Amino acid sequence: MISETDFILDSYDFSLENGLVKWEAPSNIALVKYWGKKENQIPANPSVSFTLSDCKTITQVAFSKKENSDEFSFEFMFEGKPKLDFHPKMQQFFSRIYAYLPFLKSYHFVIDSQNTFPHSSGIASSASAMAALSLCFMDIERQMKPMSDDFFTQKASFLARLGSGSACRSIKGNPVVWGAHKEVEGSSDLFGIELTQDLHENFSNFRDTILLVDVGTKQVSSTVGHNLMHNHPFATQRFAQANQNLSEMLSVFKSGDLDKFIAIVESEALTLHSMMMTSNPYFILMKPNTLEIINHIWAFRNATKIPVCFTLDAGANVHVLYPDSYAKQVSEFIQNSLSDFCHNKQFIEDKLGKGAIKLV
Ligand code: DP6
Repeated sequence: MISETDFILDSYDFSLENGLVKWEAPSNIALVKYWGKKENQIPANPSVSFTLSDCKTITQVAFSKKENSDEFSFEFMFEGKPKLDFHPKMQQFFSRIYAYLPFLKSYHFVIDSQNTFPHSSGIASSASAMAALSLCFMDIERQMKPMSDDFFTQKASFLARLGSGSACRSIKGNPVVWGAHKEVEGSSDLFGIELTQDLHENFSNFRDTILLVDVGTKQVSSTVGHNLMHNHPFATQRFAQANQNLSEMLSVFKSGDLDKFIAIVESEALTLHSMMMTSNPYFILMKPNTLEIINHIWAFRNATKIPVCFTLDAGANVHVLYPDSYAKQVSEFIQNSLSDFCHNKQFIEDKLGKGAIKLV
């Protein structure tokens, strides 16, 4: 089994003076949710996600040698402009990953990041952002120390996890499992792994249209929400349920049973929000329009028998999931019946993707 110390390398070639790397990493949507964590970003239960295609972060890191000192030295820019409010988060990320990337204090980094989705969309960008940045750092490390592709990918996911848990699922395509699960060989609490089994054709090009219900910042951050799972009255039961749902989802990926898929995915979304509503203190992230959309999806599904369903993240936005073969009908339904419940009628059409890509 791989442990944290396996990600600490020795004997670097520090002769590299400067360089530039650039990666894009996609967002992902969890089908079985991660909600609750232990020390050091270890998940309380395993989760599985679909990797998206068009919602992504593109990050460039320019690095140049500096005097080795006790300080990290970096500039963080968002869409080409300095973004000072990101510095504390970056500083925390650098501190968390330093033990695994000892060259971090020997270089000055200029990080420039941009998202393909509108930044005030309420779409969590931390997953794609932390994944893209981790890949850039791994690319730099690879220039100092040869490594296998598997190691590269695993460590990138490992580092991304330290930035934001769900980010570790944004490196690869195919469904990605994060968290040790007895039926998934090689699964680990430390990083996400791409499932190697074939995905049933019902899921090829599977669609995810993200309905932007609330574009403001969340009242309760995910980190606070995760922490409220400590001493939560239903935590033990919930973590057991997630393990069971993951087992069942693995069979669904093989069988292509869309009714079962819908049952698991919607239950996971509502359970996630039930955990929020039953924590102490309790909170509600759904908005009236979130419920309107859910009810409209249920009515449409009942009437048409089209296997479309919803899932939710830690926010009010709704992800509408459906097979590619129904894309036309569901697109029309979204445009005609659901967009009225969206902020400025905004929604983003996305689909299953193949994972992160090196750009430079
Ligand atoms: C509801 O990964 O954002 O989206 O590890 O504290 O950064 P941190 O949390 P984060 O939590 C995401 C929770 C979720 C479910 C999921 O993506 O599995």
